[in-house]
Amino acid sequence: MKEQEAKTRIGQLTRELQQHNYNYYVLAKPTISDYDFDQLLKELETLEKQFPQFRLSDSPTLRVGGDITKEFKTVKHRYPMMSLSNSYSEEEIREFINRVTKAVGNNVEFVCELKYDGVAISLTYKNGILVQAVTRGDGVQGDDVTNNIKTIKTIPLRLQGNYPEELEVRGEIFMPHAGFNRLNAEREEIGDAPFANPRNATAGSIKMQDPKEVAKRPLDCIIYYVPQDLPGIETHYDAIKYVGSLGIKISKNIALCHKEEDIFEFINDWNIGREHLPYDIDGIVIKVNNLALQKELGYTAKNPRWAIAYKFKAERVETLLRSIDYQVGRTGAVTPVANLQPVQLAGTVVKRASLHNADIIAQLDVRLGDTVYVEKGGEIIPKIVGVNLDKRPADAEPVRFIDHCPECNTPLVRKEGEAAYYCPNEDSCPPQIKGKLEHFISRKAMNIDSLGEGKIEMLFDNGLVKNVADLYYLSYNQLIGLEKTIPADENKKEKKISFQEKTVQNILKGIEQSLTVPFPKVLFALGIRYVGETVAKKLTAHFKSIDNLQQASYEELIAVDEIGEKIAESVIQWFQKPAHLEIVNRLREKGVQMELIEETSTISNVLEGKSFVVSGVFERHSRNEIKALIELHAGKNTGSISAKTDYVLAGVNMGPAKKEKADKLGIPIISEDDFEKMINNR
Ligand code: IVH
Repeated sequence: MKEQEAKTRIGQLTRELQQHNYNYYVLAKPTISDYDFDQLLKELETLEKQFPQFRLSDSPTLRVGGDITKEFKTVKHRYPMMSLSNSYSEEEIREFINRVTKAVGNNVEFVCELKYDGVAISLTYKNGILVQAVTRGDGVQGDDVTNNIKTIKTIPLRLQGNYPEELEVRGEIFMPHAGFNRLNAEREEIGDAPFANPRNATAGSIKMQDPKEVAKRPLDCIIYYVPQDLPGIETHYDAIKYVGSLGIKISKNIALCHKEEDIFEFINDWNIGREHLPYDIDGIVIKVNNLALQKELGYTAKNPRWAIAYKFKAERVETLLRSIDYQVGRTGAVTPVANLQPVQLAGTVVKRASLHNADIIAQLDVRLGDTVYVEKGGEIIPKIVGVNLDKRPADAEPVRFIDHCPECNTPLVRKEGEAAYYCPNEDSCPPQIKGKLEHFISRKAMNIDSLGEGKIEMLFDNGLVKNVADLYYLSYNQLIGLEKTIPADENKKEKKISFQEKTVQNILKGIEQSLTVPFPKVLFALGIRYVGETVAKKLTAHFKSIDNLQQASYEELIAVDEIGEKIAESVIQWFQKPAHLEIVNRLREKGVQMELIEETSTISNVLEGKSFVVSGVFERHSRNEIKALIELHAGKNTGSISAKTDYVLAGVNMGPAKKEKADKLGIPIISEDDFEKMINNR
């Protein structure tokens, strides 16, 4: 096949297969047989092998989704994947130690480890290459999630050092807190339900069909067990250190213990120390160290006899439920929040707890005036887990979930299949407007960092902005002297703050600078439900301008790669509202970018023909931003000062040699202020 022909065919096959995938997975209405699909896929694979230069970055061959079997392949474990028996008290640990010493003698050496709270995984390396990753499943067989697991950066795809021909290791996939919080914030930003805890987020992530999406999830993995014998290795501890030497990530927090007290010390230390770990653990694992003794002890039907897990107790207290508030979030979701009689729990005073949604309230049958059990488990916010019925007063009132929005009084709606009630008044309900404004100015959107949550609130409360377009119509006179009273609380007196000259200038400048933000970010900033950063990029790359997007039909939208029904419907609905069209027009009038500009284009020509050397540290921009601004205004950046340099743009800390050279050549040295004047007075 000729090159040109191959290129066209690859394009055709890619699109065709994508459509079939879509028909199959999303619509559940396949239009060809599995056999025919496999034939097409094979043809594409062969062509891509022959002409790798034409493989499209979204080729179905790169995805798990390319496999028509929808479900992950089931794989039998070579060694069964057992779980540990759990214990919750020192007594049970003592019993375990006694059982072990009775069976194999005194002076047994134990290893204590952290019990990671995630999802167990078994990895197989052949000749040093990761070939398979399987979930635990029922212990006998699990799911082959290799392609997803390969996206986890801390799992080596190739081993180093002296590895055996075949190696199986086991460990836990988990999501550290920082990444979990970021992921949830992003989900809330685009209106997706947040994950309840890092474990759920991990489990959801490794079962996703698109490894490219998994790659964006901040997953980590620590290996804690080797099920096979290794030549010359006699203890669990040595086995772990050995796999560590092959480049596999193992735990740093592992201790050899000879006495019962050492084990309890490890448990007690980590019961407190876990507060400071960057990820969740739910207990401690105690293992017999010697591998021969492990074999001697053997297994019950479900668990090894040579190991036990000590699970930390979720701290639980009883307190009085005083009342229930209803909070309206950025997406309009209404969350019931319990007001409690303050109570000490896991080191903090708890006054409020989440009640999640109407279903949970009904399930728990919580009533006002009840004494409730409050727990702090893996979740960040404490939750009500039950009612002490013995203490229920005769007049305890059943909870009637509100039917109108507590903020704007609009009747609430509940979508089919969703647990939450929503306030549908997305454009005029105060928390929803504020949420939209905060999202609009956020770093990944318009990046107006001179405005923040507090300032947005002031602008909104004073009636100066009711939607994102209003920001661009703010004037100096409206802003200067704008006041806010911060009410007194237990620790502080009432305080008044007001906008001063510098703040006002910064706010206006920040808004002005956001005119350079490219269209994909603008589209993301508009906060259309389900249009996150990636979707915004896909849509803008395809439709090029907001006008084209607005006119796109449902069919045209879903024909775009990775745009599904939910997104298409949401985009269409958004543009159907006249208020939204008005926002778009008013933004456009002020110069907010509403179409894709090719990368080389510029904002103005004011710096045309001028050559700059940028040096030192600046107050309001990074050096890279300054350089980008120079290019956006048609100027040129050069590295060193010469007779051809027109300006030296100097921040603090400019090197003395540079200054001397500029002075000698008579080249003007300008400041960040001067530069901003140059580009703003065009
Ligand atoms: S050892 C044969 N060590 O806890 C026993 N497990 O039910 C192999 N876990 O399925 C497991 N941290 O997912 C072991 N340091 C650790 C662990 C650990 C977490 C998990 C694992 C296992 C479950 C126990």
